[in-house]
Order: sequence, then structure tokens, then C-alpha cells
Amino acid sequence: MTVLALDALRCGYGEATVIRGVTLAIGRGEALALLGKNGMGKSTLLKGIMGFLPRQGGTVAVDGQVLCAGEPHRLAERGIAYAPQEQAVFQDLSIEENLRVAVPDRQRLRDGIERIAGYFPFIAQRLRQKAGTLSGGEQKMLILGRALMARPRLLLLDEITEGLQPSVIERISGVLQAERRTAQIAMLIVEQNVAFALKTADRYAVLERGELGEQGRTDEPGAQARIIDRLGV
Ligand SMILES: Nc1ncnc2c1ncn2[C@@H]1O[C@H](COP(=O)(O)OP(=O)(O)OP(=O)(O)O)[C@@H](O)[C@H]1O
Ligand SMILES: [Mg+2]
Repeated sequence: MTVLALDALRCGYGEATVIRGVTLAIGRGEALALLGKNGMGKSTLLKGIMGFLPRQGGTVAVDGQVLCAGEPHRLAERGIAYAPQEQAVFQDLSIEENLRVAVPDRQRLRDGIERIAGYFPFIAQRLRQKAGTLSGGEQKMLILGRALMARPRLLLLDEITEGLQPSVIERISGVLQAERRTAQIAMLIVEQNVAFALKTADRYAVLERGELGEQGRTDEPGAQARIIDRLGV
């Protein structure tokens, strides 16, 4: 069953088109890694899916229902969670208040914190600490925890491993694989870390100047070499 379907999606900024007709589908419990060099449009694609940018063409459908641009209040009710690339926690709010934004209901908040703390214990231990005083890595874990709190159907991650130490990256890969197994969350994982992406996702696609290039399954022999060749890293 398809959770996210993009059909010839085009979007960008003002007159400028960055995403030039992207078509893809992600099924229930499936993870697609989207790789690409700096400036190729990865973050723009996620913002386009979320409807933060006006659509210049094509469609976005979640669970078979078309998602229009400019309806941010409808995203949570559709079960869509998004971890943006930049400055995503409310710096002046505590860890608990940041999590409450995702799940206002008290009982669900408590259950969610218990579940997320199983992955990232510091979250439960430091509920009252201001998020702005957490380390960069802890803020990334909080962002992921918050995105998982509401048990989304679709999770969009924008370079969640950026700037993290290898052991934390390893842990995050484990968390994402566990959530896919247990909660069947569909994931679109934007990454620069090829090893993490291949380990965590079932399929990959390389974004080149707003269009999908090389694509395949992450367990295909030679996948890593082909991606690295495309990225020129
Ligand atoms: N707010 C904006 N207004 C105008 N152009 C923008 C804006 N944000 C991004 N762009 C342009 O869109 C293109 C794609 O940017 P985007 O941030 O989507 O790339 P990316 O693949 O996420 O790169 P990175 O790996 O560095 O995060 C770039 O040419 C960028 O300059
Ligand atoms: Mg980006």
C-alpha cells in the first residue's frame, strides 16, 4: 500500500523551479533514501511535499489523498512528521514543552516520552532543560524523538545525521529500523551520509539538479559505488 506518492512534482522559489518533475512512491513501512550533492534540491523537495512552497506542477498524495500546498495544520492529522535540516527545536522551550508541541494530550505525551526515552534516555532525564542549551547532537535526537512522538505514518528526515558522532548515527539507524518494523512508518530519508542511508533504507535515489537520477535497492551489489560515483565524493 502506497503512503506517499509524488507525480511529476515541480516546485521552487518564486519564478525559479528547483524540483523539475519528481515522481516516486513509498509504501507502508518502506524507507527511501534520497541522496544528492549540496544545492541539488533535497531540502526543497521535502518543503514542497510539506506544502511550504507553492506547487508549480504535479501532485503530492498521502494515503491516496491529494495534499494541497499551504495547509500546514492538516499535516499532523494526515500523520506526517518532518524533521527539518536547520534550527528545528524551540530554543527557549524545555525538552518537555518541545515534545508537547507534537502531542498535546497528557496521557499520550507521557506514553510517548516513555517510548522515546527508550531510544534516547537523556530526554526523560532532562525534561525541564531548555532545548537551546542541549548540544547539537542532543538537539538532533530531540528533533527525531519529537517527530516519532505522534506515531506518524510518514516521516520526512532532512540530514538527521549531520554533525553527529558515529555512535549516535549508529543508534539513529537502529531507531529508524525499529520504528519501521514495529510501527510500519514510511520514510523519506534525505542524507549525505551514504553508509547510513544504505544501511537504514530499502531503496535509494540520487537527486541531480531537481530530477531523480540513479535509483535502486540498497542491497544491490555495487549500489554504494554507483552512488559515490554520482556524488563525486
Ligand atoms: N529560500 C530560497 N530562495 C531561493 N532559492 C533557494 C531558497 N532555498 C534554497 N534555494 C535554492 O534552491 C536550490 C536547492 O537548495 P536546497 O536547499 O534544496 O538544496 P539541498 O540539496 O538541500 O542542499 P544541501 O545538501 O546543501 O542541504 C539551491 O540552488 C538554493 O540556492
Ligand atoms: Mg538541504
